[in-house]
Amino acid sequence: MELNLLENYCIETTQAEPDLLLELIEKTYSDMGFPNKLSGKTIGRTLKLLASLVQPKKALEIGMFTGYSALSIAEGMPDNGQLTCCETNPRAIEFAQSFFDRSPHGHKIIPIFGPALDTIAKLEGNYDFVFIDADKRNYLNYYESVVPLVRPGGLIVIDNSVWQGRVLQPEENSDHAVVAMNQRILEDERVENVHLNIRDGLNLVLKK
Ligand SMILES: C[S@@+](CC[C@H](N)C(=O)[O-])C[C@H]1O[C@@H](n2cnc3c(N)ncnc32)[C@H](O)[C@@H]1O
Repeated sequence: MELNLLENYCIETTQAEPDLLLELIEKTYSDMGFPNKLSGKTIGRTLKLLASLVQPKKALEIGMFTGYSALSIAEGMPDNGQLTCCETNPRAIEFAQSFFDRSPHGHKIIPIFGPALDTIAKLEGNYDFVFIDADKRNYLNYYESVVPLVRPGGLIVIDNSVWQGRVLQPEENSDHAVVAMNQRILEDERVENVHLNIRDGLNLVLKK
């Protein structure tokens, strides 16, 4: 049986995201360039479920785009949780904020404009949950910069960790950065991980 038939079956038998997120997807596709940057239902519902388990009070997202994954994470966070989101595209921030303003979870989200590495350098530790989903050529840098900020028992979730299969035959800088990050995680004694082949790869990393 073809893998994408099974993938579709799993997507169909995963409970739907809230209507506001469906509207956000539709508007991202009609109003924004490169709408396929959206992580989508499988990753979004996984983030919501993981956040519900971890109950993060302090969370960080690297690469917010139009706010789909941020709202998914926030949905699983306690009411007094804070999710700091790094984003370099002001139009995406404006778009996302218009949806945060309409969500019962939007007050938990703090978008920060600017390159993520600059923002992260100003943060102080004890993060419970981190989602990495921005420019791939910085993946190793993002991983190295967030591990010291995460508390023991905290979770780092990394999207696009198989990078459309390019990890098997890396050519460009971004391909090499994703491979280097996955290898670093494998050898990193500060963490334990499981690397899942769902959608475009999801590397789940638990800080010891
Ligand atoms: C794949 S999209 C994020 C998708 C989002 N997490 C979601 O699931 O809907 C990556 C985002 O990272 C942003 N980005 C790229 N380079 C960045 C950087 N150096 N710092 C912060 N954000 C960056 C892009 O503008 C883009 O909106």
